[in-house]
Amino acid sequence: MHKPVLLKEVLDLLITDPSGIYVDGTAGTGGHSEGIAKIVCEKGGRLICIDRDPDAIEFAKKRLSPFSNYIDLIRSNYKDLDLILNDLGIEKVTGILLDLGMSSMQLEASGRGFSFLRDEPLDMRMDPSDPIKAKDLVNRLSEYELSRIIKEYGEENKARKIARKIVEERKKALIETSLQLAKIVSSVVQDHSRRHHPATKTFQALRIAVNKELDNLREFLEKVPDLLEKGGRIAIISYHSLEDRLVKEYIKKWENPCTCPPHIPYCICGKMPVMRRVTKKGIKPKEEEIIDNPRSRSAILRVVEKI
Ligand SMILES: C[S@@+](CC[C@H](N)C(=O)[O-])C[C@H]1O[C@@H](n2cnc3c(N)ncnc32)[C@H](O)[C@@H]1O
Repeated sequence: MHKPVLLKEVLDLLITDPSGIYVDGTAGTGGHSEGIAKIVCEKGGRLICIDRDPDAIEFAKKRLSPFSNYIDLIRSNYKDLDLILNDLGIEKVTGILLDLGMSSMQLEASGRGFSFLRDEPLDMRMDPSDPIKAKDLVNRLSEYELSRIIKEYGEENKARKIARKIVEERKKALIETSLQLAKIVSSVVQDHSRRHHPATKTFQALRIAVNKELDNLREFLEKVPDLLEKGGRIAIISYHSLEDRLVKEYIKKWENPCTCPPHIPYCICGKMPVMRRVTKKGIKPKEEEIIDNPRSRSAILRVVEKI
């Protein structure tokens, strides 16, 4: 069962008004949603739960059934939150949560090839109606493109070697399963000093590329200040530096949007800060949480408030 990461911290920092409207943009198995629902539903608040994975929506629906009168469950992409709120007749919300990445349910039980430890079709789509599967990328992209994706989204320093090996192997037989790919990657990444499985970074890279994870996050972050009411908050849990870097980039922009050249002594662009940090630094899970839930070890939570 997927355990919600940094649950107490999220609830403490996100919920400023229990009678407000909240959005869980990555509902997954509904762990954070349930925590939010327990606080806001009995105080007249409302929760909108979004996930792009239909299995996640089905799962969350059952888990959140005691709160169904106060919850909207929507299968969609959080990047379209402005359109979703518009459809619901809501202009602004009190709080938004994003818990990025994939759930344990997707990793362990989706049958969609997210795990290098299972022999499953190499799919990796969170939304099964998306057109491109991981096997399409692995079997069709040029060696250069594969290498770029593995380097950029996996921060894998053996990306070129891995891409070369993939291209060599796919000439013999199409790469159809997660285990087939994991074996190919492991045959060229034999670095025993690594803490993780040799295929960890390559799988991360393909998942990010298939699901356009960074594009979605960027598109969403562009919209955030317009979607929050004054004093409303956004909480984002990232699991790798690419996501966290993007979140930090936007926090900086929100806090200091001034575009005046540095040599001008005072601001003439007139752009004022729109958000402020709630905690100076990102919040990481405590040792006990990491022991209890090793998936949380790379998590970092940042919370920002609309001014
Ligand atoms: C880490 S899990 C969330 C787990 C959840 N907080 C819980 O307590 O169970 C991330 C979820 O976000 C969903 N997801 C990822 N990108 C998404 C997007 N752009 N729009 C909507 N859902 C997305 C995934 O399908 C997955 O279910």
